[in-house]
Amino acid sequence: MTPGHVSGTSPTEFERRRGLAEGAEPARDILEIYLSISWENEPEYGNCFKSERNTWLSQYADSTSEAGIMVLHCSRLLLSKPLQRPWFPAFIRLNSTTAQVSSGKVQIGERTYEADEMTNVTPKILSHLGRNLHLQKYHPLNHISQRISKFMYSRYLSPRGNPLFSIHDRLQPVVTPHQNFDSLLIPKDHVSRKKSDNYYINKDFLLRAHTSAHQSELISMGFDNFLVMGDVYRRDEIDASHYPVFHQVEGVRLTTKSELFGSHQNMDDFQLFENTERSETQQGVHNLEAVKLLEADLKGCLEGLAMTLFGKDAEMRWVDAYFPFTHPSWELEVKLNDDWVELLGCGVIEQEILVNAGVIDKVGWAFGLGLERWAMKLYGIPDIRLFWSSDSGFLSQFKFEDSSKNIRYKNVSQYPQCVNDISFWLPGDGAYEPSDFYDLVRNIGGSTVEQVTLIDNFTHPKKKMTSHCYRIVYRHMERTLTQEEVNVIHKEIEKTAAESLNVVIR
Ligand code: DAH
Repeated sequence: MTPGHVSGTSPTEFERRRGLAEGAEPARDILEIYLSISWENEPEYGNCFKSERNTWLSQYADSTSEAGIMVLHCSRLLLSKPLQRPWFPAFIRLNSTTAQVSSGKVQIGERTYEADEMTNVTPKILSHLGRNLHLQKYHPLNHISQRISKFMYSRYLSPRGNPLFSIHDRLQPVVTPHQNFDSLLIPKDHVSRKKSDNYYINKDFLLRAHTSAHQSELISMGFDNFLVMGDVYRRDEIDASHYPVFHQVEGVRLTTKSELFGSHQNMDDFQLFENTERSETQQGVHNLEAVKLLEADLKGCLEGLAMTLFGKDAEMRWVDAYFPFTHPSWELEVKLNDDWVELLGCGVIEQEILVNAGVIDKVGWAFGLGLERWAMKLYGIPDIRLFWSSDSGFLSQFKFEDSSKNIRYKNVSQYPQCVNDISFWLPGDGAYEPSDFYDLVRNIGGSTVEQVTLIDNFTHPKKKMTSHCYRIVYRHMERTLTQEEVNVIHKEIEKTAAESLNVVIR
């Protein structure tokens, strides 16, 4: 699977990289062609492409489009057409059983993995690697992750006043079963290891199913307080609340005896460890008082975090839970619109994990939460697929600097956008205000206008005249607008602006 990862390559080169002999009789298998187009920056390519697509479509099978990535399913014979187009980046990945068997390789970045009987990653899933939505400026997942980091930074400070937590948000999502399962004491026969639930690259590697996969390695590297943020992969349905790729934040905090109990005259009165019976309330190696202090710190931290995002008055409750890597374990739920929503899982880290990572004098807690769920609840985002959208109707609503800002997402239409620009010279008397133009556009365009942005502001050095260029995005909520009808509205805007704002259309 995935033998080729080609960008604008000729068909022959493509065949060669794919491991097929040049000129070999092509099998009738299915290709997925990923055309990654930035609709926002290159709207005209979008239009070009659409007409192309329509011809392909009528000839060759079906196509789906999703979040700026256009996926075409077509027969391999027909590849020569799109590939020679120089004007957009094309990621061509194969999804064909023949290719899978004949080449038997999975390419991720620079590395090639040998496919085997466990391999089940698909080109579509692999296309999500490196998107790093949580790192994308102004993305709602980035806003939430910033709020979480900021909260943790301010809650835990060193005696000198520096944040204790380190943040690891660029760790590779390719991990070993040891990292994802064994290091977390997940039993060999545990259901969560199943091929049907995970994306295996081969028997030795998989795409991490949770950010907990990095706990053990970071602890053994010496980190005591850290957050891991990143994309995680699970085989799931695609519906409004499930998507096979989502983002998690993992928190881990380890403490020594004096950090947990504070410094006292007789430290021998306090213990982290004790040989007792494992029970509902504690592990067999822990001192109960130490566990209670950990629990109080953990719950206080997470309640504080949830209140920072969902408001001081948010109703919350703790529910007992089970995870192989923590004991005792809990889930935090918050009441939103009369429903109890699970926000996160957490607990006291199994001491065996710490010992295996080389830590013998500390105890700790951990938690894990899903960023999409928090963002959906916080902003009222109705569909998890929207996070992958490169549609400016979605993204522009989150374009603000202050991540702590609370907004409610307004649903945008799923009908396509039409983008037209308008440029004009401003009147020389300085009376022009952009907000006047925005009102004018709203008056004329009404609800067909989704956004207006000033994209260029330029003063002519000799003429001392200023020109503004605005991009107007038209989109109807209930139907597809044609370019012709948009042109009529756009012309009317130009005419009225010239008349009432004294601007000179360029
Ligand atoms: N890894 C868990 C999941 O993906 C979430 C989780 C639960 C993480 C408890 C933790 C924890 O660190 O202590 O469902």
